Amino acid sequence: MDNTFHHIPVLLEPVLDVLSPRHGERYLDVTLGGAGHACAIASRLAPGGTVIGVDRDPLAMRVATDRLVTLGRTWEEQHGQSAFDVRTFLTSFIALDEVLRDHDIEDREQGGGFDCVLADLGLSSPQIDDTNRGFSFQTDAPLDMRMSQQGATAAEFLQTLSPDDLADILYENGDIRQSRPLARKICERVQAGELSTTGQLARVCCEVLGNPRHGQPHPATRAFQAIRIALNQEFEAIDTFLNIIPKWMKPGGRLAVISFHSGEDRRVKTAFKKWQNPCTCPPGLPVCVCHKQPLGKALLKKPVEATPDELKSNSRARSAKLRAFLFD
Ligand SMILES: C[S@@+](CC[C@H](N)C(=O)[O-])C[C@H]1O[C@@H](n2cnc3c(N)ncnc32)[C@H](O)[C@@H]1O
Repeated sequence: MDNTFHHIPVLLEPVLDVLSPRHGERYLDVTLGGAGHACAIASRLAPGGTVIGVDRDPLAMRVATDRLVTLGRTWEEQHGQSAFDVRTFLTSFIALDEVLRDHDIEDREQGGGFDCVLADLGLSSPQIDDTNRGFSFQTDAPLDMRMSQQGATAAEFLQTLSPDDLADILYENGDIRQSRPLARKICERVQAGELSTTGQLARVCCEVLGNPRHGQPHPATRAFQAIRIALNQEFEAIDTFLNIIPKWMKPGGRLAVISFHSGEDRRVKTAFKKWQNPCTCPPGLPVCVCHKQPLGKALLKKPVEATPDELKSNSRARSAKLRAFLFD
């Protein structure tokens, strides 16, 4: 077991409440991370449950698989019967449908699917804390930001962007009002070969947006977030996931999504609304003629956020929002 991979699962109790995992059920975790949620859920599936896990980060995949397998073995030694099956896949959940089908996992129509599904979006603590991954600007490091550790780095990605494209990314993914001057300055530095580290990007942000102020988020925070979201195609992955997941939910299946960014939460909220009320008839028609049937109902009236107690022990739960849906 790798004890150096330290991530505290956020909103764990409310996640267990809404997913309410039971013996023998089938669980899909599309963001395994350090398997904090997955282990807590898996231990409630024994005996006879199934855990299917996905993460695009090779380190998370190795650690999470190891933790789940060890948990299952320990349970089996104590109880003398099979705990749960574990299968894990190193992939982005943008390819979830394809990966599950390629591995002969059956969907709802084929009599299969999942009882509980969790997507805990964003980054794990080790991804942020390992400065060599280039997600943070606490120390100067190569501007990498790849969750999968494959493909173009953030520094290479910036070389492909026009100032207009970059300004859109900074505005749409980071809500940065001065997105145009900031994008122009970043592109100038990229052209001059002066932007390949996290420190260099953070300094340009300060030049345009102002120096860090005590008690305020660092001016580079939102730019880093915006570029990371674009590089890793995070919003595209969420849209694709929300499009296909209903086909993978068993009748009575529970889906929980934890988001950390308004762009993520908006997507989840909109999908849940559409699933609960899919009618596309013009307003004022006396009866529904589109005959689209609801897929189920939202399990929480409002998203659940971290309590002050949780925030005391885990400040990274600060912007977390949990939404959940129960499928018919
Ligand atoms: C917040 S962490 C999950 C932590 C986990 N729930 C736990 O308790 O340890 C998010 C994880 O999702 C992964 N991830 C983010 N986007 C992904 C995607 N599109 N496909 C697969 N994994 C993704 C990240 O690599 C990271 O390991």
